[in-house]
Amino acid sequence: MTAIRYELGADQILTLTIDMPGQSANTMNSVFRDALDATVEKVTADLDTVRGIIIASAKKTFFAGGDLNELHKVTRDDAKAFEDMVNGLKAAMRKLETCGKPVVAAINGSALGGGLELCLACHHRVVLDDDKIQLGLPEVTLGLLPGGGGTQRLPRMIGLEAAFPFLMEGKKVNPKAALKAGIVDELASSADDLIGKARAFIEANPGCQQPWDKKGFKLPGGAPHHPAMAQKLAIAPAMLKQKTKGCYPAPERILSAAVEGCQVDFDNGSLIETRYFTELVIGQVAKNMTGTFWFQLNAIKAGGSRPQGVDRASFSKVGVLGAGMMGAGIAYATAARGIDVVLKDVSVENAEKGKGYSANLLSKKVSRKRMTEEQKDTVLNRIKATDSADDLAGCDLVIEAVFEDSNLKARVTQEAEPKLVGNGIFASNTSTIPITQLANASARAENFIGLHFFSPVDKMQLVEIIVGEKTSDETLARAFDYVLQIGKIPIVVNDSRGFFTSRVFGTFVNEGIAMLAEGIHPTSIENAGVLAGMPVGPLAISDEVSLTLMQHIRAQSRKDTEAAGGTWVPHPAEAVIDTMVETQGRKGKAAGAGFYEYPQQGKKFLWPELETLFVDQEKATATRLQDLKDRILFIQAIETVRCLEEGVLRSIEDANIGSIFGIGYAPWTGGAVQFINHYGVRAFATRAAELAKQYGSRFTPPALLLEKAESNTPFA
Ligand code: NAI
Repeated sequence: MTAIRYELGADQILTLTIDMPGQSANTMNSVFRDALDATVEKVTADLDTVRGIIIASAKKTFFAGGDLNELHKVTRDDAKAFEDMVNGLKAAMRKLETCGKPVVAAINGSALGGGLELCLACHHRVVLDDDKIQLGLPEVTLGLLPGGGGTQRLPRMIGLEAAFPFLMEGKKVNPKAALKAGIVDELASSADDLIGKARAFIEANPGCQQPWDKKGFKLPGGAPHHPAMAQKLAIAPAMLKQKTKGCYPAPERILSAAVEGCQVDFDNGSLIETRYFTELVIGQVAKNMTGTFWFQLNAIKAGGSRPQGVDRASFSKVGVLGAGMMGAGIAYATAARGIDVVLKDVSVENAEKGKGYSANLLSKKVSRKRMTEEQKDTVLNRIKATDSADDLAGCDLVIEAVFEDSNLKARVTQEAEPKLVGNGIFASNTSTIPITQLANASARAENFIGLHFFSPVDKMQLVEIIVGEKTSDETLARAFDYVLQIGKIPIVVNDSRGFFTSRVFGTFVNEGIAMLAEGIHPTSIENAGVLAGMPVGPLAISDEVSLTLMQHIRAQSRKDTEAAGGTWVPHPAEAVIDTMVETQGRKGKAAGAGFYEYPQQGKKFLWPELETLFVDQEKATATRLQDLKDRILFIQAIETVRCLEEGVLRSIEDANIGSIFGIGYAPWTGGAVQFINHYGVRAFATRAAELAKQYGSRFTPPALLLEKAESNTPFA
């Protein structure tokens, strides 16, 4: 079986159907490249008997794009061979494009990355009008660029400015939006219509001209040297820097490839694109991002830390206790994936209010035309708002999200458990209380587990599954299946105070506050956080969490440490937090005042008094930005290694994915453990020891890190 079926019809229309053997989706790997070369050779030989060409796909997804397995392996030493290979592939696509006969892409499913680039190399694109189909160039989200001609053809088709969101942000669109954007030319209502329209184009355009003529092509929206466009482009790199914080090389390379490419003829533009593409492919950021966002994420979705040997479970009725912020979100996420939900609160009114949260989100989808009224009603009708525990009868899973109070949680556990089906699971969404402790209230602790969702639940993809001392493997496996069933990403951690994500997150905010305690200017601290790649600075996020909650968590940890016979070592952040709360009465954002001021009108700004209270001018001016950035990334990576060492984390995948999706650890690093690999285990351990000397024992390299450094083996 060949990867591209060659069928020349009696009407002299040639259909090339891509059907990669042994693969569920078509990808641009060496098998495809060889098949394309052979096909193009045959087309060239048969050209006299061919009136036009239809490119089709035998798979559900038209074409999935580049082969990341191949790309991930390319090293600096392979750069030249890689460039030649890419240019060879593009030359084959170009030969079809310039063969003089009309070439039409009949797009029956999603076409992403290299798949869409193949379609762009056709003269005409017809796509099945199905909202599930996505078209886009997502390479940038993996630190890459569309290296199959996308940075050259798309600007020539729709203009530079219109192409930017697709090229530089990886925007994906459905067929209707693609038509509006000018990425495709026609929509088809059925598979027959798709082929019919492709044929009709061929009939109507027998002598198809080679597009992108060498001379005088007009770029829609203006060529780069047009004054209006030149003005915009002059500030584009600076605007990109603002977005990428200098951490992500891909958007800037894409901009360069597109702009430089538009100023020369197509073929030279294509060579320019390959050069930038290769630079990114061999660079470390793309390796970090593809490694984590593709390979590790897929490994988690394929089973990750799920125990083997337990049949895959499917959930049909889930109870949610507490219809507050978290409960309402969990109910929505569950019902949206086709599961019946019983949403219970202390009153029907409260429960209905929680259900209203789903109604709101769904209405927004309807108004954005992402859903019909009927679809909205179907989801909403799955949620039963109630104040009666009897309605929980027959649930496969109950998740409690009542107030953070162990006694209350114990009560609702005992009330709900008898209503569950035989092997039903009871889960707690606690953010701080150890699962083993909560399971004491359960009559079936082996079926008790933690499911830690993040706020806002509809947007946050991660769920941290916490295994208590008595939780069975079967319960863990089934809880894992539930998380996948609702389309979220499960990581599995063993019970520990703060689990994994909150522990690491705590080190981030405390480090920022410790800098303030040292006298560093708050603006420098916030900048360092953002420039390191965190979504916001540590002081802003402390305000969100609330400084009083941080005091409460600390008091609890201290109590636990001392009860276990340990000695509490105060963190330098503590004194600052106490001053803020107790002396200054500034408790955080919810209280209207924290490290930031929150004016009624306008944006928040850093509280000016911080300068008088904490800043030491000498220290503030002597501090290097790089040191601050290092401290922010290092402290979290070190805590992650401690979690691995203590067995809180079960895998490197969970560590990397959990750090990025749970706490926003800089995505360019590929996650908190990959950052250590990226830095080099030895160099990382040395730098950590330096930081420990300067800032305290919290940076002391854990034994596991020293072991890796000694043998110079990265975490794998
Ligand atoms: P919330 O205060 O918004 O909601 C709690 C709800 O529980 C209220 O509607 C309350 O009426 C209801 N409730 C109280 N007693 C009940 C009972 N006996 N039966 C049924 N419902 C009852 O609280 P939120 O923020 O939703 O937090 C809930 C849980 O989720 C807490 O354990 C919290 O630590 C945890 N969590 C919170 C996160 C957050 O960002 N807020 C993140 C992750 C976990």
